Amino acid sequence: MADDKKRPTLTTSAGAPVGDNQNAITIGPRGPLLLQDYQLIEKLAHQNRERIPERVVHAKGWGAFGTLTVTSDAVTKYTNAALFNEVGKKTDLLLRFSTVAGEQGAADAERDVRGFSFKFYTEEGNWDLVGNNTPIFFVRDPYKFPDFIRTQKRHPRTNLRSPTAMWDFWSLCPESVHQVTILMSDRGLPIGPQYMNGYGSHTFSFWNDAGERYWCKFHFKTQQGHKFYTNEEAAEIIGKSRESYQEELYGAIHEGRFPKWTMYVQVMTQEQANETSYNPFDLTKVWPHADFPLIEVGEIELNKNPENYFAQVEQAAFSPSNVVRGIGFSPDKMLQGRIFSYADAHRHRLGAHYEALPVNQPKSPVAHYHKDGLLRFFADNNNPDAYYEPNSFDGPVQDPRYNEPPLEVHGVAKRWEQPVGDDDFVQPRALYTMFDDEQKGRLFKNIAAAMHGIPQFIIDRQLGHFAKVDPSYAEGVRNALAHLDKSEEDRETHKDVDRMAVNEPHKNTEA
Ligand code: NDP
Ligand code: HEM
Repeated sequence: MADDKKRPTLTTSAGAPVGDNQNAITIGPRGPLLLQDYQLIEKLAHQNRERIPERVVHAKGWGAFGTLTVTSDAVTKYTNAALFNEVGKKTDLLLRFSTVAGEQGAADAERDVRGFSFKFYTEEGNWDLVGNNTPIFFVRDPYKFPDFIRTQKRHPRTNLRSPTAMWDFWSLCPESVHQVTILMSDRGLPIGPQYMNGYGSHTFSFWNDAGERYWCKFHFKTQQGHKFYTNEEAAEIIGKSRESYQEELYGAIHEGRFPKWTMYVQVMTQEQANETSYNPFDLTKVWPHADFPLIEVGEIELNKNPENYFAQVEQAAFSPSNVVRGIGFSPDKMLQGRIFSYADAHRHRLGAHYEALPVNQPKSPVAHYHKDGLLRFFADNNNPDAYYEPNSFDGPVQDPRYNEPPLEVHGVAKRWEQPVGDDDFVQPRALYTMFDDEQKGRLFKNIAAAMHGIPQFIIDRQLGHFAKVDPSYAEGVRNALAHLDKSEEDRETHKDVDRMAVNEPHKNTEA
């Protein structure tokens, strides 16, 4: 065929041209095969290695590349971070969205918190801001995170998601009621990644050339507006397509409708932190805008779809430990736990040199002394005689200008508990009060649908928490449950399976 002349010759991965890519070597036309057919063996062996472990959480995701453009210099007095230092400055970024609980093949339009992970390729290294579409989280101590996630994943016996486990955990950890309320409200099921806000969620710090440190939070407000599905709409969407987010995001960028967010920060001084009625490092709390107004920083635009999903989204490794000059951590216990957890996950999921993979590689110079190990695919030694430090052969050296200002810490080390108190219901109340009657109605219905069929003592315990937020909240959920009981009598087979999975509860676990 004339056309074939223009096409490159197929080769093995060792570069040897291949004469036949259709037929295995067999003894006679009917087989059997010969072990010496290494082309066949290579093909099968490669296929066996095409999957890597999925992320233990946030496995299902959608990503795109874009830019941050700085629109205001209002934060330069707080931080010397290079990416903010000039109005008009553009920094390339990767943004990956995700759901928390579902596996890689999960349907996109499921009610869940959404991940909102940035990798900013700044001129002074990568800054990863690994947040969610909610400003807060379910728990405030990293000790509780693996257990929380267990309740979101599958039951060991039934291999089904277990509403009983979810509500058992939430009702035993009432600090979760703020996040549960957001999850069960309209914002718990946006119609696509463009139609939701993003939040760094934790308290971080800014520091400047004068050595001053300020506490800060990051916010990204959608310019597309908030759009959401009801449970019924989502069921219909999932019936038609399990990939509605990928279609939304990829399609919008492909058609030049580039999604945008406005980036803001909130800033708090140490003096103010000493005075807030709530712990400003508690991840179940926001900082009220009236006290800590949003300060505009810039605009995020997503304008480039990945060329290869696996290489650029699946292999992307985001870690809260990746901060750059001018941005630091805070005492937030959850953040501190995450500083360890992510790089550990990447080394397991991707290999020791995951940061040298093209999508994770900084766009600024990299000069470290980490050496060999799995995936050492870069041959550059920089300076081959300077392979240890300190050395006399011009190897890379430290630069004290990048030292963070000292952070004063003092206190007694022990397993400190932050008991649940009235304080934990104030902000959920502010949120609940903001909802209009229709929003409240949907909140009650969504909660009832998620709870229906679980043991009554867990429902009662959770209703107690809703009542502390507002008596009408508990009443609304109770009525919605009664309505569901009536309309779904004798139809709840799948919930029965969940019930069978649960052993007789121990009375001493009841709050
Ligand atoms: P404000 O009235 O100043 O802010 C209300 C915030 O709530 C805005 O950020 C708004 O986001 C967001 N919001 C509006 N409608 C909903 C909704 N249906 N579901 C979830 N969030 C919504 O009040 P405060 O700062 O005092 O906060 C009051 C409560 O609002 C908090 O207790 C918290 O639950 C919630 N909230 C607060 C945030 C904060 O950082 N202070 C951030 C997000 C929520 P938008 O402007 O994008 O519509
Ligand atoms: C992913 C751990 C809390 C947001 C992950 C991963 C781990 C993890 C191990 C998989 C990483 C990978 O394989 O690439 C933890 C621990 C937490 C915690 C131990 C608490 C102690 C949070 C919180 C948020 C969050 C509070 C948001 C504010 C995310 C996001 C991802 C993720 C968005 C997906 C990142 C991506 O897009 O690749 N988490 N997490 N996590 N987590 Fe957490």
